[in-house]
Formats: sequence, structure tokens, C-alpha cells
Amino acid sequence: MSTISDFNTAAQAGIDREHEVQLSLLRTLCQAVREQRDAGEVAHLLEQLSAYCEAHFVSEELIMRQHSFDEYEDHADDHCHMMDLLRVIAIDHATGNSSELKNITDEALAFIDNHISTRDKRFADFLHSAQ
Ligand SMILES: [Fe+2]
Repeated sequence: MSTISDFNTAAQAGIDREHEVQLSLLRTLCQAVREQRDAGEVAHLLEQLSAYCEAHFVSEELIMRQHSFDEYEDHADDHCHMMDLLRVIAIDHATGNSSELKNITDEALAFIDNHISTRDKRFADFLHSAQ
């Protein structure tokens, strides 16, 4: 029989997998920028990452709302900040600002890494305690 506990466990496993993919895509982008790879390849990686982040954040925020998560607003603000960083990255890439592009991609990686280990960890603990 399916229970709310089963749902929460499955939801958390899905979120954990998405975080791994998100970090992997961002690390790949950082590496491509550092190696000054072809502009088209960097643009493609950035599009992939942006689409993935957007879908992941919408999905995570939906689960938070379903559970009336008490830190929803602050958590969602972090997601907005990450999407802002991705838009700045796209502008720096489009304008050929390569030194700033490297800095901002590294900043985005540090930001999302910290977000996952703090705010996402807090949400995981919240889901676990709700079982
Ligand atoms: Fe998050």
C-alpha cells in the first residue's frame, strides 16, 4: 500500500538525483569555459543547464508547497538568484566577456553547491521528519 511516507521517500530520491545532474551540468559548463571551448558548445551547455535548473526548481517548489514548507520563500529566493546568475552568464557569453564569464560560472557553482548542502538539506530533513 502506498503511503505519504512512500511518497516523501520517492520525492526525496528524485530530488537527490536531480541535484547530482544539476551539479554535473554546471561543472561541465565551468570546465568548458575554463578551456575556452567553442562558443556554440558553451551556449549549448548553458541552454541545457538553464532548462534543467528551471524544471528542477519548479518541481522542488511544488513539493515544498504541497508540504507547506516553512522556509519556502527564502528557498525560492535562492532559486531566483541562481536563474539570475544563469542570465548574467548568458549575457557575458553573448558579449564575449570571457574573464567575467569564468568568474560568474565559478560563482554559480559555489552558490548552488552551498544551496544544496544547506537549504536543500534543510528541506530533505523537513521531508524526512514529516514521515
Ligand atoms: Fe533548492
